[in-house]
Amino acid sequence: MTDSLYSRLGAYDGIAMFATNVVAAARKDDLLGRFWTNRGEDRNAQELQLLIDYFVKATGGQMYYKGRDMALTHAGMGITEADWARFLEIAGSVAGDMGVGPTEGGEVMGFFDSLKADIVSA
Ligand code: HEM
Repeated sequence: MTDSLYSRLGAYDGIAMFATNVVAAARKDDLLGRFWTNRGEDRNAQELQLLIDYFVKATGGQMYYKGRDMALTHAGMGITEADWARFLEIAGSVAGDMGVGPTEGGEVMGFFDSLKADIVSA
């Protein structure tokens, strides 16, 4: 049996690093940075932890996700196709830098794709 995507991505530490780097890059990105203006650091830290929990759970790890669902979370943000494409670019480049292989990279992209309809609203 193939190991879970969770364990192939380096378990909790690998996923926490991936999420941390993606969020850091998105926040300072010219296009995506607008979504994170005027938010306190506490809120940002909480959001990052929720993202890690969500990701760990979705890839087969043991984590209880206590945040909102993806449609509710991102409703009204006005995330466009261009934002989404940029997000995938950032995620792909972070994964590449971390040495994530093509099989796991493809599975991560497939997972993101399954969420797209709930997140992109503009
Ligand atoms: C263009 C892509 C995306 C943008 C611009 C974006 C933006 C945001 C922002 C601004 C928040 C904070 C919401 C708030 O404080 O109320 C947030 C929360 C969150 N996002 Fe995203 N997001 C994107 C894609 C994703 C993806 C692909 C996932 C899942 C893997 C995700 C998972 C989450 C989670 C779990 C939260 C926290 C939920 C909660 O507060 O209850 N996001 N996102």
